[in-house]
Amino acid sequence: MSLCMVYRVFARPPALYYYSRLLSTGSAALPEQSQDKLQLFGKLYDKDPVTNVTPHILRHVGRNLHRVSKHPLCIIKERVVHHFHTTYVNRVGNALYAHFDDVPPVVSTEQNFDSLLVAPDHVTRSKKDNYYINRDTLLRAHTSAHQRDFIKMGFDRFLVSGDVYRRDTIDSCHYPVFHQMEGVRLFTGDELFRNENLGLKLFEKDSEETGEKQRGHSIDAVKMMEINLKETLDNLMRSLFGTDIQTRWNACYFPFTHPSFELEIKFQGEWLEVLGSGVMRQPILDKGGASDKVGWAFGLGLDRLAMLLFGIPDIRLFWSKDERFIDQFKSVGISLDTNVQYTPFSVFPPSYKDLSFWLPKTGFSENDFHEIVRSVGGGLVEEVELVDAFTHPHTNRVSHCYRLTYRAMDRTFTNREVNEIMEKLRQEVQDTLGVNVR
Ligand code: DAH
Repeated sequence: MSLCMVYRVFARPPALYYYSRLLSTGSAALPEQSQDKLQLFGKLYDKDPVTNVTPHILRHVGRNLHRVSKHPLCIIKERVVHHFHTTYVNRVGNALYAHFDDVPPVVSTEQNFDSLLVAPDHVTRSKKDNYYINRDTLLRAHTSAHQRDFIKMGFDRFLVSGDVYRRDTIDSCHYPVFHQMEGVRLFTGDELFRNENLGLKLFEKDSEETGEKQRGHSIDAVKMMEINLKETLDNLMRSLFGTDIQTRWNACYFPFTHPSFELEIKFQGEWLEVLGSGVMRQPILDKGGASDKVGWAFGLGLDRLAMLLFGIPDIRLFWSKDERFIDQFKSVGISLDTNVQYTPFSVFPPSYKDLSFWLPKTGFSENDFHEIVRSVGGGLVEEVELVDAFTHPHTNRVSHCYRLTYRAMDRTFTNREVNEIMEKLRQEVQDTLGVNVR
């Protein structure tokens, strides 16, 4: 799924008191979960018809790979933070950007969507795409969920890193849990224009929204922010990948920014999207108590950056507990010169299994199917591909055939193990999706 198609965002008490509690929660230790309640970070949540988070997904909560020393995701996070902390300093050399990487991933729908102006009926709220704890609470789908709250706490420049959760297709680049870093920078008129004698203004009351700017913003402010944003992120990419890296910007759409831009970098001949960004919608700042300022924001995918930088071919490897994976990054430090390229420590052959079924007349969601595959297959299924679809000429019923690629990153598995999973899968898809296995 392209970043641009996705847009999802944090609320709750702004007080520093709450904030210090936020940061002291530690790992999610998952005690016994009961039939009608879920316990997360010491809090009990009532399950309801919207609850769709599975035990398999909950086992990822609290792993905090982005905080595990010498884990590639932690290294990339630290490099980005180091870049910001050393490039943007105050007059005595102290870092201007605050960084938070310990905000728990359980957020309200208000934080994840409403605070970011995602409309109440917007498709990105769908159960198909998110992991709901219940109708009001979910595992954050993006770190943008925390923008408004940190603004409310008074931060004008900050970074937030964390694990994010999305129901998605399964392949080497997509895993339902991945990691993002959010960045926000707010400006007063003096900070943005630097020269008060020019008479430039942030706001132009009553001006309309155009393709270039939001209602009420001045075109000067928007252009200055666009330049500052692009320069900041372009420099970041050069510090991560070296000065020769090719980058390009595309215009795109998010509900919480206008104008919006995504950045692609060319890596081994291919353009890859690495972040979404834009000029923050003013109501977000208004709700955060910063209506006299304007700002830009970005959200970047840490997993993808780490895969590119270290040549890691499969996103599931990040979750491996095998020392032969993690030990490879022991000597890597902050500097680009200390980089290493991942070397496969064992290559196990894949095994393929097909599963065909008639779809129910009442509708079928491929994401629901993927979720079942994930729950039943654990981390063994590398890819799910629709290899055949046809409609029966007489009955009009539709049949799908999916090819499942089984491969373990760090161990061998037996045919029997795979057959048992297939059997469970057949049963589970019939029972919960109402399909007829052929
Ligand atoms: N939250 C977006 C996503 O996950 C990425 C993003 C886009 C973050 C634009 C931002 C932004 O802060 O301004 O797809």
